[in-house]
Amino acid sequence: MTARRPFIVGVDGPAGAGKSTTSRRLAARLGFAMVDTGAIYRAVALAASRGGIAFDDDARLGALLPEVRIRFEPAPPGAEAAGQRVFIGDEDVSQAIRTPPMSLGASAVSARPVVRAGLLDLQRRLATAPGNRGAVLEGRDIGTVVFPDADAKFFLIAPDEVRARRRFLELQAKGDPQPFEAVLADQRKRDRDDSSRDVAPLRAADDAVTVDTGGVSLDEVVERLAREVLARVAARG
Ligand code: DC
Repeated sequence: MTARRPFIVGVDGPAGAGKSTTSRRLAARLGFAMVDTGAIYRAVALAASRGGIAFDDDARLGALLPEVRIRFEPAPPGAEAAGQRVFIGDEDVSQAIRTPPMSLGASAVSARPVVRAGLLDLQRRLATAPGNRGAVLEGRDIGTVVFPDADAKFFLIAPDEVRARRRFLELQAKGDPQPFEAVLADQRKRDRDDSSRDVAPLRAADDAVTVDTGGVSLDEVVERLAREVLARVAARG
């Protein structure tokens, strides 16, 4: 008998819609693995920028991908709220990938088909690794491209000023304050670029459940998603 594939949950949506916090809490609540696919694109952008590779240089990006060893480690005990640690080789790049230039860099490299295709296998392997009962993948195209046959798909949205306010507070808390207007402008550019690119543009899968996180607490969002997933897990038997 072949082993059953882990239960796959895709959480897509634009920047600041609450995907990271929601996905992390949902995964912890369900005992599922968590795959932050944005962190993977960010790590590629960081490696490219360190290597002096332009974000649209397909030939050099293509050559870079097999060289970049991206891996995740669980957050140290007590620091779970900060999420998993992200490594390139042995270097912890968790902070270095979360700067505003790397947000724009990740958005730029993620528009390159060579990069998207080169990262598909890694995303699928992380989600279906032996020992995973299930996995929550957070991204832009999980329900449309990475796992079109995911067991549950969510698309989180919120008004853009609410999303920018969240990012603004996050940067402030990290000691990297940026003017609100700059955060909003960067986010609008990313939204525009992520939604209008030719390959795997940001859009909800036809069978995704859209959840507006604007007027509700993230605890309520997690509850809503957990209820839906648990019902589907039970239905799968
Ligand atoms: O979720 P994030 O802000 O860490 O993502 C950074 C960028 O990576 C985002 O602007 C678009 C891109 N991305 C993508 O194209 N596909 C994904 N599955 C995840 C992220």
